[in-house]
Amino acid sequence: MTEKHRKILLTSALPYANGAIHIGHMLEFVQTDIWARFQRAQGHECYFAWADDAHGTPIMLSAQKSGITPEALIDRMQEEHQRDFRDFGLSYDHYSSTHSPANQQLVETIYKRLREGGHIERKTISQFFDEEEGMFLPDRFIRGTCPKCKSEDQYGDSCESCGSTYAPTDLIEPRSAVSGTAPVMRDSEHYFVRLGDFEDRLKQWLTGGQLQKEVVNKIDEWFADGLRDWDITRDAPYFGFRIPDTEDKYFYVWVDAPIGYMASFLELCEDRGLDFDEWWGPGSDAEIYHFIGKDIMYFHTLFWPAMLMGSGFRTPTAVYAHGFLTVDGTKMSKSRGTFIQARTYLDHLNPDYLRYYFCAKLGAGTSDIDLNLDDFAQRVNSDLVGKVVNIASRCAGFIQKRFDNQLAGTLPQPDLYQRFIDARGEIAADFEGRNYQAAIRRIMALADEANRYIDDHKPWQMIKQDGRDDEVQAVCSQGINLFRVLITLLAPAIPHTAEKASRFLGVDVGPWSDLDQPMAGCAINAFEPLMARIDPARVEAMVEASRESLKPASEPQAPTLDLAEEIGIDEFLKVDLRVARIVRAEHVPEADKLLKLELDLGGETRTVFAGIKSAYEPEQLEGRLTVMVANLKPRKMRFGVSEGMVLAAGSGGADLYLLSPDDGAIPGLRVT
Ligand code: MSP
Ligand code: ZN
Repeated sequence: MTEKHRKILLTSALPYANGAIHIGHMLEFVQTDIWARFQRAQGHECYFAWADDAHGTPIMLSAQKSGITPEALIDRMQEEHQRDFRDFGLSYDHYSSTHSPANQQLVETIYKRLREGGHIERKTISQFFDEEEGMFLPDRFIRGTCPKCKSEDQYGDSCESCGSTYAPTDLIEPRSAVSGTAPVMRDSEHYFVRLGDFEDRLKQWLTGGQLQKEVVNKIDEWFADGLRDWDITRDAPYFGFRIPDTEDKYFYVWVDAPIGYMASFLELCEDRGLDFDEWWGPGSDAEIYHFIGKDIMYFHTLFWPAMLMGSGFRTPTAVYAHGFLTVDGTKMSKSRGTFIQARTYLDHLNPDYLRYYFCAKLGAGTSDIDLNLDDFAQRVNSDLVGKVVNIASRCAGFIQKRFDNQLAGTLPQPDLYQRFIDARGEIAADFEGRNYQAAIRRIMALADEANRYIDDHKPWQMIKQDGRDDEVQAVCSQGINLFRVLITLLAPAIPHTAEKASRFLGVDVGPWSDLDQPMAGCAINAFEPLMARIDPARVEAMVEASRESLKPASEPQAPTLDLAEEIGIDEFLKVDLRVARIVRAEHVPEADKLLKLELDLGGETRTVFAGIKSAYEPEQLEGRLTVMVANLKPRKMRFGVSEGMVLAAGSGGADLYLLSPDDGAIPGLRVT
């Protein structure tokens, strides 16, 4: 195979740093990884560099809510993400964060060049502002009633009930999702990139590039609507990079996110001594591809190339969009247990299973991909275990037991082997065109052929006949060579299994050109099982582990500290608090909040009506100690006189906690 040496840089979209990786993300990352491994197996110089997307309001608020700094949050997530990626066998060369010095520098360079080129414009805009939190509100953080269908509690940009889109100012009774208060309109000066400046060059890039048809159609619609200026500003407080020469303005996360592709690669260049400009500089002959989901096309096909054009860098060779992952025919769902995190998957199943299934389903287009869980188990078991691995296990036993692991000196059917390796060209073209499902169809057709070859020659019968040993060795050697071709072609999809196979074969499974030479007259190693069948019970257990239990959604919230007026110690000491034992507790039939308690104070007994019915059953209380206000003036109630008050923490609903002294305290002790 003589193909020119290519220099290729790949990226996947940068996952947000405020959430766990799920199998929907993995569809994209596996698609990218298969391409990277495939290109390297053709002998090309191919890098895969990307990062966590660390900036933006959701990440800032999410850190705030957990009571940590955004830096601590993104560090933790980056580590978690990478652990998932490594365990899924992603072969990326570098993983960074958009919150890095390299990225900040590139962002500033690109911004300054855009400014010097006259592509930045300032305009004062008016937006919703949360006065209590002191922040401007992104659309997603404004809730209100839909102006069209009047559904309550909808987002500021679109209604989930009727699907209409609108401006946040159209909402009826808008509220801040951060503080719950009604936002006010406030002015602020923002910086915009004049996208229109790049219209001609963008059109040229789109038609001259290798974009997918459906992507070009979509972009044509956007052009028809007219290119509006792009607001690249967010006001403080914001977690991001500050815009040079401003005090309190930050770059919108979608400015520094794609630049993060470059920054990650820049770090890789420093690690490996590569020349960054040879890749990203104008006139570069390297190929750059971004793999993305179809939801983020706008950013990658308009904003991103425009930023590059305006700052003297080259544009990507292509942007490849894929569809969304559904599970069992519908959107991943937490209640159905199909919103499956990468880690939950890994806890139950071999990553190569899912990598293979994705590979077998992915095409070059943007249609959605369904993970049907029954089909998943069936397909993997019949293709990988039943067809591919089976060839090796059928042949290895004889070679091991009868021939001391030695393969025959020549192949009995070199023409068959030749046909297998001749298929490389078509299969490579399928992978190159991201038509992975077609590649898998061809490889499985070859696997069927290899199994037929063994079935036809029946080594298990020959071995029982005298004088046919050589034939058995030859047939099994042929089989093992066919297996080697198959596992080499499949290696980009199932790297863990390929690694095991290379230990068994005693040769590296890697470059496709290695297959030019069959294995003959050499020894292989003892066979170890390469892949077990999927046990449907494991799939079920994974779904069960992913199912969000039906417990009340609200987690305990930190209380707001609205402290009461300051008092002196003598004022406090006026309250006579005593340890008391609850000797009797009973319902008060006419009252839905009260329990009637009989309290032993050491020398006397008191009756107290306490509003604790929402949290306690009477029988839970009898015998236990608590603390009471002993000198409260008796109050006459509908059901009798209450002679004091017991102390409890909480709001009075289900979150109510009766105070009790440590064991050993006796009724009547003073509490101070
Ligand atoms: N941070 C941005 C990307 C910035 S790139 C400069 C982002 N992050 S994301 O975490 O929401 O998504 C990362 C990628 O995963 C996107 O390409 C997105 O389309 C993809 N997917 C997220 N959920 C998915 C599915 N259910 N199915 C397939 N891809 C999915 O967007
Ligand atoms: Zn609506």
